[in-house]
Amino acid sequence: MAGRIPQSFIDDLLARVDVVDVVDSRVKLKKTGKNYSACCPFHNEKSPSFTVSPDKQFYYCFGCGATGSALKFVMEYDGLSFPDAVEKLATQAGMEVPREQASFEVRQEQQHQPLFELMQKAGQYYEQMLRAHDKKHRAVDYLKNRGLSGKAAKFFGIGYAPPGWDNLQSHLAGQGDKETIKQLIACGMLIEKDDGADKYRTYDRFRDRIMFPIRDARGRYIAFGGRVLGDEKPKYLNSPETPIFHKGRELYGLYEARKIRQKLTRFVIVEGYMDVVALAEFGIHYAVATLGTATSEHHLRRLFKIVPEVIFCFDGDQAGRTAAARAMETVLPVLDDGLQARFLFLPDGEDPDTLIRREGKEAFEQRLNKADHLPEFLFEHLKSQVDFDTLNGKARLDQLAAPLINRLPRGTTLRNLMEKTLQDQIGTESAALKKLENQPDSEPPPAADSHDQLPAHLQEEPQEPDIPHVDHSADTLAPLVHKALSSLVKKPSLAESLELPDADPQSEHERLLIEVLKKLKNAPQSSSVGLLIQWIGTPYQAELQQIADNPHSQIQPSAADIGSVLKQMNARTLSAELNVLDGKLKRGEKLTDEEKTRQREIRRQLHSIHKKRARIYSQNPH
Ligand code: GTP
Ligand code: MN
Repeated sequence: MAGRIPQSFIDDLLARVDVVDVVDSRVKLKKTGKNYSACCPFHNEKSPSFTVSPDKQFYYCFGCGATGSALKFVMEYDGLSFPDAVEKLATQAGMEVPREQASFEVRQEQQHQPLFELMQKAGQYYEQMLRAHDKKHRAVDYLKNRGLSGKAAKFFGIGYAPPGWDNLQSHLAGQGDKETIKQLIACGMLIEKDDGADKYRTYDRFRDRIMFPIRDARGRYIAFGGRVLGDEKPKYLNSPETPIFHKGRELYGLYEARKIRQKLTRFVIVEGYMDVVALAEFGIHYAVATLGTATSEHHLRRLFKIVPEVIFCFDGDQAGRTAAARAMETVLPVLDDGLQARFLFLPDGEDPDTLIRREGKEAFEQRLNKADHLPEFLFEHLKSQVDFDTLNGKARLDQLAAPLINRLPRGTTLRNLMEKTLQDQIGTESAALKKLENQPDSEPPPAADSHDQLPAHLQEEPQEPDIPHVDHSADTLAPLVHKALSSLVKKPSLAESLELPDADPQSEHERLLIEVLKKLKNAPQSSSVGLLIQWIGTPYQAELQQIADNPHSQIQPSAADIGSVLKQMNARTLSAELNVLDGKLKRGEKLTDEEKTRQREIRRQLHSIHKKRARIYSQNPH
């Protein structure tokens, strides 16, 4: 029996062939935006839900879930075994298939093992440079100036990436070991240059920076944060998302906090690397930081598995208050009985790093001990937004508090107490809460589009309405589509009030939006988790997960926003069809009766879409 085909060969092969060519030579593809589509060859369908992504080099069918690389496609479509499919593709690409003798037990862990090892070597290299590089003094002085001890630097594995474009690369990949370079690119340490002509195609991501290694819970090196020594921008550079690093999941300092082996009873979440390091240096070893992102629900669940109390630490300024309000929203669904979240606001202009150096451990812990509890913070924050002494203000408070309280897990004591507090505050039963509880996790349907609100002259539809030119191109729509997708992923119950559009998607996100909506129409979900579960194992899982986790987005999910994007996509599709018909007329061709009817129908629909838009815009002039 022939030996195993080395993975590196498969990688080379897949890099050499283009999934678009492979599929297109068997199933005719049509270009839709960045991707290609066709009716799925693996199940029966009338409208195309099979897409091929040249960027990602895979195909995926939203209808039956068939997915894979060019190789998988050849296996499935041509009915070949894996080695035969490799042979076939290799022959076409003019490559000879090598064989090796080896076990075929390759687990993912092992696949990633080289990346972990490489990252560790990078970390060790940076540490060594902090001790030995001839420009190390700038770095050492910088750290000293910030009051960092050698002991703390060592504990956190802090290092120095020297100036220059290829220090790390030549240290780890010598004269250009291809495999290592590939791995360094994969883990974000090398950046590939775009101009293919250049001889030096890669360069070090981190140059002349203080390096903070980010280690996972098991202490494996997975990423780095790098700080400039001066005032250059950007101040911090973080590793990108890689196969071994996911920002929305990792917390800086968590590994180090557990390494101390002191009993942990609480965590404090701070903003910066230096805050974690400084607090630890002063004996507060339970600080963690998110990696330049806001705290995600995933982060919080992780921490609450270890301790019952999490304290968020923010600047006392307006930005800090806003960030705290967001953190509060994120933490609410996580708060089972026995868990508590608290909020600490620091004096203006201070961060934990500066403060603890000024006041010391005792005083800082005093502050932590006095931090606001979530219920107090919630009410205080909301009351500052309303005119609480008026009846109107109380009603408004009810409106603001109810959706937040409704995020708390049901049946918990905390929720009961919060409900009661709200009642006491407003002096009557909470109408808003009652409403929310009666329609679990769903949003009130958007106001009906009733025509009788229109001024009279708009109510009569002209025979040949003038259709204003509105740019519905995929590029213009992209941010709105992204926002809509985000809304839907974060709040799947919105699907209920939305209609499936009859539009040709022009970008991957547009398609994803439609497909997510389709799935939700078939199987309604009230939570992101429920939605995401359905995408496990598909190539879009990671993307949707990321959208769900994206802590940067301050998007307030709204059905109206999504509805408007879907309408614009519809309008674009209709306009395209109309163009074809109008084109015929212009060329002097006759339209069939059917086409004429269709033309009228499209105009009518477009007119009604634009009219609604016009109305929305005239109500909100900007
Ligand atoms: P220094 O004390 O000046 O070193 O920084 P800091 O730790 O006080 O950082 P700051 O409060 O300015 O920012 C908090 C965190 O946000 C940092 O630790 C980084 O993770 C992240 N951050 C800050 N600036 C940047 C930046 O320019 N780019 C990126 N990607 N992240 C940043
Ligand atoms: Mn700082």
